Amino acid sequence: MSLRVAVTGPTGEIGISTITALEASPDVAEIVGMARRPFDPAAQGWTKTVYRQGDILDRDAVADLVADADVLVHLAFIIMGSREESARVNLEGTRNVFEAAVGRGGTASPRTRRLVYTSSVAAYGYHSDNPVPITEDVPVRGSAEHYYSEQKAACEAALHEITDGSGLEVYVLRPCIVAGPHATALADAMPWNQLPMPVRRVSQALPLLKPPFPDPGTPLQLVHHDDVANAIVLAVTTTDAPAGAYNIAGDGVLSMSAVGEALGARPVRVPHAAATATSEVLARLPFVPSSLEWLHAGRTSVVMDTGRARKLLGWRPKHTAEETLSALASAVRPGG
Ligand SMILES: NC(=O)c1ccc[n+]([C@@H]2O[C@H](COP(=O)([O-])OP(=O)(O)OC[C@H]3O[C@@H](n4cnc5c(N)ncnc54)[C@H](OP(=O)(O)O)[C@@H]3O)[C@@H](O)[C@H]2O)c1
Repeated sequence: MSLRVAVTGPTGEIGISTITALEASPDVAEIVGMARRPFDPAAQGWTKTVYRQGDILDRDAVADLVADADVLVHLAFIIMGSREESARVNLEGTRNVFEAAVGRGGTASPRTRRLVYTSSVAAYGYHSDNPVPITEDVPVRGSAEHYYSEQKAACEAALHEITDGSGLEVYVLRPCIVAGPHATALADAMPWNQLPMPVRRVSQALPLLKPPFPDPGTPLQLVHHDDVANAIVLAVTTTDAPAGAYNIAGDGVLSMSAVGEALGARPVRVPHAAATATSEVLARLPFVPSSLEWLHAGRTSVVMDTGRARKLLGWRPKHTAEETLSALASAVRPGG
């Protein structure tokens, strides 16, 4: 194999690890990545990668990116953002990418034969009747009250609408929360980690000053960025036919207390009913800041079964959830 791989969003938390892993794959000859910021691939030590600045909202830029690619990996997305901005990029931009992959409207090379798309555990939605653990056979319903969950489910629906019957090989990965030393968004999102460093140092030194972190008893999965990157490389290079979607999570589950404590907070157990009630109240309010919509994610367990990725992709995560959390905590600790 001597694959030419196009990647949207190579500069993101998963993107950097993915390109690094693609660079190391003997099956990959050339990589072309596209995102909006200026970026120098040589500074990463990458030798097979060409980078171009472009926006997935620009259909011509997407068509140019996909031209001559054997495989297209779609990572570009707005995770933390306003409902409106994220909807534009995530829905319209993602449609552009899927349409280019199938050559709709003559926008892409007929050479593209495979698409790898990173969906998310959030696509399932936070429903009380979700089975535990959840398998890929459960329909993705999303949760309308959380913009990210709703958009991830909508993107999977668009993916089916655009690619079914096209002959394109489609691999959908559904990772849980991604973390590690080079994927710090989970820690960065904690309000206390946005305080100036001297204030953080004082609060860490005095346990009573640590911010409280409510734990309603919802278990959490984590996956290391390098393990996600390896799953993507397997999807890019496997000679096995796609089996639809693949859940991706590290071994083990964590309590929210463990996560809060590792990231510098003081865990406080709260009744599970409190999380459900907060979620219900938020869902009824006419206007909720998009950042608060993430609270819905804490109301229900969406622990995934990862058997399919292990059996059919041959994926084996190298890091447990606990190890991933510990690596993240060391990376973001004041002075770390
Ligand atoms: N991180 C997680 O915990 C997690 C979990 C499950 C699934 N996922 C999914 O995995 C994918 C990658 O996530 P990530 O964590 O790497 O996200 P990220 O760190 O936020 O990176 C997003 C990437 O998308 C690019 N991008 C955003 N808008 C763009 C646009 N309009 N045109 C072109 N590029 C654009 C960004 O670069 P520029 O800003 O320079 O354009 C960046 O390279 C996403 O689909 C995400 O939903 C992530």
